Amino acid sequence: MNKKMLIYKVICTIVIIAAAILLLTGVFNKKDSMYHLADRSKIGPLTTEDISYRTVAAPTQTLKDGTIGAEAWKEIYPYITQTMYANADNDEIVSYLEQDPYLVQIYEGYGFAKDYGSARGHAYTLKDVHETKRPHATANCLTCKSPSFTKMVQDQGVGVYTKDFEEVYNEIMANGEVISCYTCHGNDAGSKGALRVTHTYVNKALGENVSTIDPATLSCGQCHIEYYFTNVDSDGDGNPDSEAMMPYHSVEEMTPEAILAYYDGIAGKDGEPGFYDWIQEATGTKMLKAQHPEMETYLQSVHAQNGLSCADCHMAIEMQEDGTVNHSHKLVSPLASQTILSTCVQCHGSTNMVEKVHRIQDAVTARETVIGNKLAAFKNAFADALSAGNLSEQKIATLHKLHREAQWFFDFCYVENSEGAHNSALANHCLDVAEEKISEGMALLGEG
Ligand code: HEC
Ligand code: HEC
Ligand code: HEC
Ligand code: HEC
Repeated sequence: MNKKMLIYKVICTIVIIAAAILLLTGVFNKKDSMYHLADRSKIGPLTTEDISYRTVAAPTQTLKDGTIGAEAWKEIYPYITQTMYANADNDEIVSYLEQDPYLVQIYEGYGFAKDYGSARGHAYTLKDVHETKRPHATANCLTCKSPSFTKMVQDQGVGVYTKDFEEVYNEIMANGEVISCYTCHGNDAGSKGALRVTHTYVNKALGENVSTIDPATLSCGQCHIEYYFTNVDSDGDGNPDSEAMMPYHSVEEMTPEAILAYYDGIAGKDGEPGFYDWIQEATGTKMLKAQHPEMETYLQSVHAQNGLSCADCHMAIEMQEDGTVNHSHKLVSPLASQTILSTCVQCHGSTNMVEKVHRIQDAVTARETVIGNKLAAFKNAFADALSAGNLSEQKIATLHKLHREAQWFFDFCYVENSEGAHNSALANHCLDVAEEKISEGMALLGEG
């Protein structure tokens, strides 16, 4: 072997070893491909004033459906994109049916009695909707799961809601995007991060009132709301549209009372006034299932009145090592973020927020357990009295109304994801009303 060849070999070996070291540390030390944050203790609480909003050219590369995907934004907004992906860290599901067995009773005959797990991070929307044991015949369950569905509705109209679930799911998977930039920004994230309402039903329901809600609240309120699927046939195809819809037209109508009145006023599947999600077999009650009325609950709270938005408590404002300041797009509990907790101090002084929140949640949850069990007992007593056949028509009608309303108010509180923290007065009010109606019903049944 000549000298030249040997030097060549040595250099090659060194290059290969160096490349391997770089590659392996990159793989094993995952942090290096992630964003780095500046030391919080040196910078103190940041506000939106600290963000330097930029206008940048949007990426030209779109997904098949014309939306700009997160991967395309990644180069322009690495921190925002990485933190959005980090929603995958929130991966735990609690089975509500195991935690609160009375639910199986009160949701009897409906999908939620079969499978009801807690929500987790946005990264899991498509996986979770595909795997739930709740039946989903049509595509409307995909409404809040992917911007590709949103875009299909924008392009093709309300007919999309009644398409076959699997067919639309596969079409969405061809783009592969869970809740993403397009959901909250359209294709305009480059215009200083402008927020856009992309879910068409929000504009239909609220009309001009859309502008009365802070965009950084309404962007979450496209999904974290109470909704129903319409029974009207607006496209004349002979079938109900099953379009997702909000049951109100303004913030003032977002109370559980006003929403109940809205449902009572529109027709159900039987064409009679009194919308219902399902008829409970044992009692014949036309039941409503509340969804997750976070925005409704929040907008009536003291914090909304003080001008805070969802983003203020669920999206930390962070400085990266290079000095850029942005909203983290990892949506967290404020209690899990020192950065967010540090912003509570300006109004709450030195109060321990974690303790304050837990005190409210513990009290609300304890009441839910008591009243949920009472509701199940009421349902069973009503069912027994019906099968004994000794209730007058009029009594049955009154009991149906009480039962429908008791469950509505209970559910409105139970399914709200903050467990009372967003608005403890409203949570307790809902439980009070539910409890009163259960007592009235039990008294009518002679069981009071
Ligand atoms: C396109 C609909 C949609 C929008 C818009 C949306 N969410 Fe969600 N969000 C969901 C769904 C669906 C889940 C549940 C995902 C799962 O469990 O698979 C969820 C889950 C969450 C969770 C986790 C819940 C838990 O108990 O761990 C948080 C927190 C959250 N969202 C906050 C927000 C905030 C804050 C905004 C606005 C910045 C927002 N979301 C906007 C649909 C949406
Ligand atoms: C003043 C602060 C504040 C604002 C503003 C706020 N939230 Fe929350 N939110 C909380 C607290 C506190 C909890 C309970 C956190 C916990 O249990 O760890 C919570 C819980 C949640 C949860 C359950 C997930 C979790 O991590 O526990 C969701 C979803 C949620 N909020 C959505 C919203 C939406 C949507 C808005 C706007 C309509 C909003 N929040 C506005 C403070 C806030
Ligand atoms: C669930 C809704 C939601 C999603 C998904 C989302 N954003 Fe945002 N984004 C927001 C909200 C809310 C704000 C804060 C707006 C405010 O208060 O000014 C924001 C702010 C921004 C800003 C302004 C700068 C800043 O840090 O406040 C940019 C730029 C931005 N987002 C880009 C993106 C990109 C790129 C993606 C996808 C990788 C994305 N967003 C995904 C809701 C969302
Ligand atoms: C703009 C001022 C302001 C900010 C910022 C603020 N709060 Fe509050 N908050 C209030 C006021 C006012 C009340 C009502 C008086 C009270 O209960 O302390 C309140 C009440 C509460 C309540 C009781 C709500 C209820 O319905 O019972 C909780 C929980 C709470 N705050 C948590 C937080 C958390 C957590 C943060 C920070 C993420 C925060 N707040 C930031 C002003 C603020």
